[in-house]
Amino acid sequence: MKFTVAIDGPAAAGKGTISRAVARAFGFAHLDTGLLYRATGRKLLETGLQPEEAAKSVTPADLERDGLRTQAVAELASRVATIPEVRAALVAFQRDFAAREGGAVLDGRDIGTVICPDAEVKLFVTASPECRAERRWKELTASGQAADYAGVLDEVRKRDARDTERADAPLRPAKGAHLIDTTEMDIDQAVDAAVAIVRKALETKG
Ligand code: DC
Repeated sequence: MKFTVAIDGPAAAGKGTISRAVARAFGFAHLDTGLLYRATGRKLLETGLQPEEAAKSVTPADLERDGLRTQAVAELASRVATIPEVRAALVAFQRDFAAREGGAVLDGRDIGTVICPDAEVKLFVTASPECRAERRWKELTASGQAADYAGVLDEVRKRDARDTERADAPLRPAKGAHLIDTTEMDIDQAVDAAVAIVRKALETKG
């Protein structure tokens, strides 16, 4: 059976946690597509390849490497993600993943709009910038990274601006996407809302 769940939204809205929980609940495979952009950014720094070549050279093993989840790499990823050749070079990898047997969850910024516009379920997960910055700040501090709230909020806003204002595949809700605003929800409520939407779509598909 092929069944694709496309989950988009801004940084630190809860997409990652929701995506992993949905994948676990239904036994689907999960791809965090932000890692493709993070790995591309890192390859650029390490190899001196051109952006398009760096994106083409990304392998599944590159997505498993340590150190991809730092703020510095996120910033780099958001910059390389504005380059149309980089985005184009990463399309096939994502579509192949989405088409696998047994179901797939992909999360990112353009999954429902560009990569999988025919996904069985599209979710747009969001929260206020202040709420997302607070969550990110707590995560960073808990993992021992130095961070101040004002600085994290500033980075969230800058990344939002770059992700939503870029010309190629800007972040926005796909047609037919279910909106989940997690500002006033805890993570269990957000996961329950997403799982309920996917369950209904699976039942409808039969
Ligand atoms: O989801 P993330 O924070 O790991 O993503 C890092 C950056 O990668 C994000 O700021 C924009 C880019 N990105 C993208 O443009 N399209 C995607 N599908 C996923 C991520």
